[in-house]
Amino acid sequence: MAIHSPAFKYTMETNNSQALYKIVLRNIAESPQSRITFAEYMDLVLYHPEYGYYSSLVIDIGKKGDFFTSVALGKDFGELLAIQLQEMWQKLGYPKLFTVVEMGAGNGNLARDILSYWESNNPEIIAHLQYIIVEKSLSLKHLQQATLQQFDGQIDIKWQSWEYILDDSLVGCCFSNELIDAFPVHRFVVNGDRLQEIYLTVENDCITEIQDDISTEDITKYFDLVAVDFTNTEYPLNYCTEVNLAALDWLNTVSNKLNQGYILTIDYGYPAVKYYHPQRSQGTLQCYYQHRRHNNPYVNLGQQDITAHVDFTALKNQGKLCNLDTLGFTKQGMFLMALGIGDRLNELSSGKYNVMEILQRRDALHQLIDPIGLGGFGVLIQGKNLTKEQSILQGLSIN
Ligand SMILES: C[S@@+](CC[C@H](N)C(=O)[O-])C[C@H]1O[C@@H](n2cnc3c(N)ncnc32)[C@H](O)[C@@H]1O
Repeated sequence: MAIHSPAFKYTMETNNSQALYKIVLRNIAESPQSRITFAEYMDLVLYHPEYGYYSSLVIDIGKKGDFFTSVALGKDFGELLAIQLQEMWQKLGYPKLFTVVEMGAGNGNLARDILSYWESNNPEIIAHLQYIIVEKSLSLKHLQQATLQQFDGQIDIKWQSWEYILDDSLVGCCFSNELIDAFPVHRFVVNGDRLQEIYLTVENDCITEIQDDISTEDITKYFDLVAVDFTNTEYPLNYCTEVNLAALDWLNTVSNKLNQGYILTIDYGYPAVKYYHPQRSQGTLQCYYQHRRHNNPYVNLGQQDITAHVDFTALKNQGKLCNLDTLGFTKQGMFLMALGIGDRLNELSSGKYNVMEILQRRDALHQLIDPIGLGGFGVLIQGKNLTKEQSILQGLSIN
């Protein structure tokens, strides 16, 4: 029996929003039972090929945009990542073909910083490198191609989707920064021993949230995987949270493609016990619109980012099921310290820089390691078919 939440009234604001609003209505009308899950809604408003947030030209990942990632703070983040990838190449025994797969490459600046660093500091790796970008958004793919044009004819860079990459074919590293938080999530409400999923339907011409039985048993299986029991009496009534099933599918796919090597995931999130803590009664869903954070996913359709934190326990435990070992889980601050960000801070006093440069760069480096900001992000490194020696990495050496 479906429970109807108080209807929220959606106000249309821009042309994109009106077009998307109609598309959402049409999808609801054409769906069995005239309703869609929140995950289907989130997929539409973020990734609709024409009007979705990541597909339209409104997206601006950077200091002036709706949100910014570590990449916008300068080239240090990419360079330190390049140092970690370089060590992986060495640990794998300098394979003739070393594949780096960047998943969800945004504006392409992270790839540019990594590749520029190798051009100047380790041209040898470039001779053996295949750099593949897996990107869902066509318009971001075009932006990435423009950003990386400078490497045309010099570095083997390709854009591919997973179905064109053979299973068991990659030797190298598949990495992502803030990818998984952008996957569509299912939302649900816990009331005693009942899990009720949130769906969207139309009532009186207005999109309305309703609650009904979960759309897939995969949600129950997910909580077995992470050992979270919502029947525990500590959970308050109407406890609302979300689940990222797409993250598990993604990890299976990436692991299938990897023959030997590493999966490096950087994102904001928590272990399951903290994510699904009884006190986190409204979940972690957040929206970003012009640098303002709020929690209404039903406004600014196609104009705002919608994200949810990452459950790192789910990635670790799913990893075990698909032949991945957890090599380490640390915080971004520790990871970057281990890779030499401290030396970069010290180098600022070498006399080579003017005062403005020192102040700006010091601020950027501090932001990258700030424990209550980017430095608190999780860094998970998983490995496949590695020896003990290959599993010990510089980035994981401080904990
Ligand atoms: C929050 S942005 C992060 C961009 C970039 N990694 C950075 O750190 O600036 C998320 C990126 O992931 C892409 N994306 C989302 N879902 C994806 C998927 N299933 N496969 C590949 N890319 C995806 C988005 O289009 C976007 O490029």
